[in-house]
Amino acid sequence: MTVTKNTYTPFVWDDRMSTGVEVIDAQHQNLLNMVNDAYGSLSETTSKVTFQRITKELLSYAIYHFQTEESLMNEYGYNRERPDEAGIHIKEHRDFSAKVVAARKTMNSGAQQEIIPILEFLQSWIANHTQDIDMKLGRYIQEKEAERAAK
Ligand SMILES: [Fe+2]
Repeated sequence: MTVTKNTYTPFVWDDRMSTGVEVIDAQHQNLLNMVNDAYGSLSETTSKVTFQRITKELLSYAIYHFQTEESLMNEYGYNRERPDEAGIHIKEHRDFSAKVVAARKTMNSGAQQEIIPILEFLQSWIANHTQDIDMKLGRYIQEKEAERAAK
């Protein structure tokens, strides 16, 4: 395993990343912190066991977070009203999980793999996903909330 530490810059939460939905924002911050922490914990001497433990925690938190968003989609009728957007959104969630699962499998097989590109993928996935597709969901939920409040 090779880790070139100077290529990774921890990604810091910024209010501009806020979707306006409190539970989503809180979970995004946790997810981001987990990726940054993973970077801190993984090193050239990281054992397979440590790698599996860290990625398992990350994956289960990500899945929990995706479930939160996807149940909000159901609750607010997002899938019904914006099926295309919801479809793309859910696919992005599945792709994230698949990437982590694939990295875990490669590690288990004993094959050499670079850790930093995986962390960079996770980091940029979170940055792109939260600032694009999650924003759309956030705005949609806020509109629905405003409609409910006006009734
Ligand atoms: Fe999402």
